[in-house]
Amino acid sequence: MHVIVLASQKGGAGKTTLAAHIAVAVEAAGDGPAVLIDADPQGSLSAWWNVREAQTPTLAPTTIAELPAKLAALAEAGYAVAVVDTPPAITEAIGAVLRSADFVVIPTRPSPHDLRAVGSTVELVRAAGKPFVFAVTQAKANARLTVQAMAALSEHGTVAPAVVHDRVDYAGSMIDGRTVQETDPKGRSAGEMFELWRFVKAQMAKSTKARKEGKGS
Ligand SMILES: Nc1ncnc2c1ncn2[C@@H]1O[C@H](COP(=O)(O)OP(=O)(O)O)[C@@H](O)[C@H]1O
Ligand SMILES: [Mg+2]
Repeated sequence: MHVIVLASQKGGAGKTTLAAHIAVAVEAAGDGPAVLIDADPQGSLSAWWNVREAQTPTLAPTTIAELPAKLAALAEAGYAVAVVDTPPAITEAIGAVLRSADFVVIPTRPSPHDLRAVGSTVELVRAAGKPFVFAVTQAKANARLTVQAMAALSEHGTVAPAVVHDRVDYAGSMIDGRTVQETDPKGRSAGEMFELWRFVKAQMAKSTKARKEGKGS
């Protein structure tokens, strides 16, 4: 089972939104079953899941202390991918979650504040020795800021070419427990989620291969 953790010190970066959407994309691509884990005490992901009609992806309740054992049990139960949402903070608890990760996605808005704050998230992920990619989120259409942000981020690590744009359907679809793939399967947002998962999956495969060959993370 691949454990993907969404992490970013910044609140509002898009962790919870991407956690739900990536899990749905995993299943839509036939790469599931996926299971969601809400490691944020605020419980936004759980609240979304609780109003969701569809049975999949599953949500597995756990505490951070029990996370490693829980992940082992979920792998045993046959889940292919676990997607973990985390709180916006730099804490020992997040460090613990990151140590359970196989791969980390760092959502980042293309704003100066978010870019300045990204260093501390990267430090935490590097301290845990985990491979990661940045996902630019809530990008305005045709904005120069997006291009500049991608250039700035690429100095710290790999940036997903699938930019997540600022669109009302990302928020709107989640009101009743759905995602953009379900409210508008042929829409641009659904396309972005398809591309994002495709990229994350490929990067994850690359880092797994490198690890197996002993080339480090
Ligand atoms: N791509 C997007 N387009 C428009 N709104 C978005 C997008 N991603 C997230 N949002 C909205 O921005 C806010 C913060 O997103 P959220 O996923 O909760 O961030 P985090 O979990 O990092 O705090 C939410 O209101 C969410 O609906
Ligand atoms: Mg959140």
